Amino acid sequence: MEQGQWRQARRLVREARHVVALTGAGISAESGVPTFRDAGGLWKSYRPEELATPEALARDPRTVLEWYAWRRSALADCRPNEGHRALARFFLRRGEAGLVTQNVDGLHTRAALEEAGEDPAEAALPLELHGAVGRDRCESCAARWPAEPLGETLPRCSACGGLRRPDVVLFGEMLDPDLLDRARRLAERADLCLVVGTSAVVYPAAALPLATREAGGLIVEVNVRRTALTEVAAAALRGEAGTVLPALLD
Ligand code: OAD
Repeated sequence: MEQGQWRQARRLVREARHVVALTGAGISAESGVPTFRDAGGLWKSYRPEELATPEALARDPRTVLEWYAWRRSALADCRPNEGHRALARFFLRRGEAGLVTQNVDGLHTRAALEEAGEDPAEAALPLELHGAVGRDRCESCAARWPAEPLGETLPRCSACGGLRRPDVVLFGEMLDPDLLDRARRLAERADLCLVVGTSAVVYPAAALPLATREAGGLIVEVNVRRTALTEVAAAALRGEAGTVLPALLD
């Protein structure tokens, strides 16, 4: 059974003309980054409505900014794992963009830099649908900066005075429409969507594998557990991304 899934997954990867990968928190679990909905996940100890919504940011900006500063500092010791690296090498080899992530940890970008050198080809760089904790943006204008440690007073935009906040998508906020459009086009063009380490319950990201399927392509899932997508996947590989991805892609 398991062997059949592997055979099928390898064949699909080998024969695919266009591949898109959608990753979630599970790919970074082996780097020490907590997921959201597993036992021990962030949403088991924290309430997203108090920390990750525009209402929370308006009501209590310091608490929200401190929580993201804490997540950023926790990431300082985390390194890309073999799963991030295998995906970076795969898309570098193909020379074709296809990596879409819901993660805000920046580990795909770091893997691409480490695999390709200082100036990685576009192909290995992820579309970060939910933004990046390593960046700030102005709540009012389009200004963006590398994130800085939080001081005594709330950080303000030097251009317009708006609140300087993490450049991440909070629950209830729109995704960057241009980024989402690019991700949708990749998903629709792909004949294979590789879905890695996501519970696939947060939309619109979760709709991308379905877009591949509706356009006639197939899904291969890599996850330690079953998800809502397992039913519709052409192959489902059970295991940790850091072990499964190098075995599947290298
Ligand atoms: P979840 O925490 O919902 O799901 C993590 C998935 O990874 C689960 O399906 C696990 O079974 C799987 N998993 C855990 N460890 C793994 C490993 N080593 N290898 C492979 N799979 C593993 O995280 P996401 O699906 O990423 O959004 O959550 C989606 C969005 O919800 C996040 O981007 C975030 C969150 O709230 C926002 O903050 C807007």
